[in-house]
Amino acid sequence: MADPALARRVAELREEIRGHDHRYHVLDAPTIPDAEYDRLFHELRQLEEAHPELAAPDSPTRRVGATPIGEFASVRHARPMLSLGNAFSEAEVRDFVARIEDMLGFDAIVFSVEPKIDGLAISLRFEEGRLVRAATRGDGEIGEDVTHTVRTIRSVPLRLSADAPALLEVRGEVYMPRAGFEAYNRRARERGEKELVNPRNAAAGSVRQQDPRLAAARPLAFFAYGIGECSLARLADTHSGVLAHLRGYGLPVSALADTAIGADGCLAYFERIGADRRKLGYDIDGVVYKVDRLDWQEELGFVSRAPRWAIAHKFPAEEALTRLLAVDVQVGRTGAVTPVARLEPVFVGGATVSNATLHNFDELARKDLRPGDTVIVRRAGDVIPEVVGMVPERRPPDARAVEPPTQCPQCGSPLLRDEGEAVIRCSGGLVCPAQRKEALRHYASRRALDIEGLGDKLADQLVDAGLVETVADLYTLDRATLAKLDRMGERSADKLLAQLEQSRDTRLERFLYGLGIRDVGEATAKALARHFGSLDALVDASLALAPYFTGEAALDAAGRKALAGEALIQVPDVGPVVAERLYRFFVDPRNREVLARLRSAGVHWPEQAPAAGAQGPLAGQTVVLTGTLAGMTREQAGARLEALGAKVAGSVSKKTSFVVAGSEAGSKLAKATELGIPVLDEEALLALLAAHAG
Ligand code: IVH
Repeated sequence: MADPALARRVAELREEIRGHDHRYHVLDAPTIPDAEYDRLFHELRQLEEAHPELAAPDSPTRRVGATPIGEFASVRHARPMLSLGNAFSEAEVRDFVARIEDMLGFDAIVFSVEPKIDGLAISLRFEEGRLVRAATRGDGEIGEDVTHTVRTIRSVPLRLSADAPALLEVRGEVYMPRAGFEAYNRRARERGEKELVNPRNAAAGSVRQQDPRLAAARPLAFFAYGIGECSLARLADTHSGVLAHLRGYGLPVSALADTAIGADGCLAYFERIGADRRKLGYDIDGVVYKVDRLDWQEELGFVSRAPRWAIAHKFPAEEALTRLLAVDVQVGRTGAVTPVARLEPVFVGGATVSNATLHNFDELARKDLRPGDTVIVRRAGDVIPEVVGMVPERRPPDARAVEPPTQCPQCGSPLLRDEGEAVIRCSGGLVCPAQRKEALRHYASRRALDIEGLGDKLADQLVDAGLVETVADLYTLDRATLAKLDRMGERSADKLLAQLEQSRDTRLERFLYGLGIRDVGEATAKALARHFGSLDALVDASLALAPYFTGEAALDAAGRKALAGEALIQVPDVGPVVAERLYRFFVDPRNREVLARLRSAGVHWPEQAPAAGAQGPLAGQTVVLTGTLAGMTREQAGARLEALGAKVAGSVSKKTSFVVAGSEAGSKLAKATELGIPVLDEEALLALLAAHAG
């Protein structure tokens, strides 16, 4: 026999943990931090392990059984689990209410109104307040015993409060909250495992797991919406009264459950819940209206398997089945190449959908979608339609998987995939029609060629009208053509021409940045301009790398070492990835033609001698600035260091000579420390500048 004091402590811990479970999972109002809960739980588990005689099947530690069950046993429901008739329109709701008013001979009927949770119907049987069985609906008469998995759901109490009737069957819905569903899928994606199609299937699939440990890993929850067999003749006179009792016994009942009067009241509830449904943490597919008075429910009775006293008013379906006709390839403004599903048009979520995004080719492969497949299309609210999965049983035998393209469907340029990224991109840059608008917008942006007035709308028009293919065409535009464009007029045309004229006189770093070569941002463009001094020198250095990127020189250890010695790689901020981008850009004859045309259109910059032989006490040193300096901006500090001959780079590498770290320096400082690169604080920087002053 265990010490009575221990037995008391165990009982106390169970009571306390049950209370916390109820506040956390049912009331959504936890009162202690998770860590404290874990501590209580741990203490209870240890006591139970040390004293097996104190074990109890309804202990909070015993939610998850250790062994999977074999087959699901059949369970005959003491009272059948009914289904509901559906209404899809206001007229159908009015008919339903009018029929009831007719039969009862009253109007202004009170209804219990509740959200219709989109999950799986479950019946919970409590005897002497203890959960003894959980069963699925099955055919309404006979369901499956799923006690082992339903026990793992934290909002299902294993014990009811003391005032609950000796026998009580609770009917309700098991569902998967959206956050849990998304977190589960995020993890599945990261591990390359199959994703759950939607929260409803996820809930149904989880409850019907044979292994309770698998179900316990799925974030499920439960809402009670009614009762079956009950040892008390009557818990209350109304359905809303029954729900209040269930709440009192510790069961989760939707906080949105309410009462409403007549058809107008029901319809107003439908509108209110419909407007807020996206804000709920779980999916609902409509609302349910139930005559509130239980004696009236009895009087109204049933037709076949559905009660006359209740109806489900459904929202337009957000998911529908249709056929995947083809997978097309689309090139976005940034060159991202994405698969798009062409669908047999289907009405879903209140609109006809014939295209849906597939995000990327990895996703296409993971979902294993093939033209000819029957697919599930989802359109929820204003969210863009997506294909969530396919129906394996309906796959035609000849369905072939879609291979990711290797060439851009718009311009034929090779497609490149960044390491560690799912997106593949067109390397065509300026010559890819799909990327022209973005290229124009970028070329004209303030930090590039700074062409005021050339915004998104104008860039779109110029490309759509076929007036501009590459940025070089900008300099061929004339006043008459421009003035004819939408919202332009002669004054705006003149302004734009003046801006274009001004942009001809620029600097190499701005020009390089304006070309929009991927990963060549402002800092890199500046470093390249400083290092090479002229466009031709940069082009030559880039083309000199051909052997590495055409496969002629193997990029093994020796090859990488040789590459690291190349002129282009000597530039701060430039590594093999940027080098390859530059090479691929300049090797493309179409890009070189654009450069030639820009130059012959008069775009020019002061060319300088290469900075290789830069003078000054810090010549040959590469510095990285990070964090916040108290006495000056990073740009000011950079300018003073450059004035002493140093190069300022944007990222820390083995080539960095030293790092200047202000307050709140983050990853760059960490990297410097890791590489053993000297770090100067602001004081040391000031000392260094002072030492070289004058
Ligand atoms: S009442 C006799 N209330 O919808 C009444 N059902 O389409 C039986 N459901 O099988 C059901 N939320 O799985 C009721 N608040 C709610 C509900 C609800 C979801 C489900 C339930 C039922 C199905 C009928």
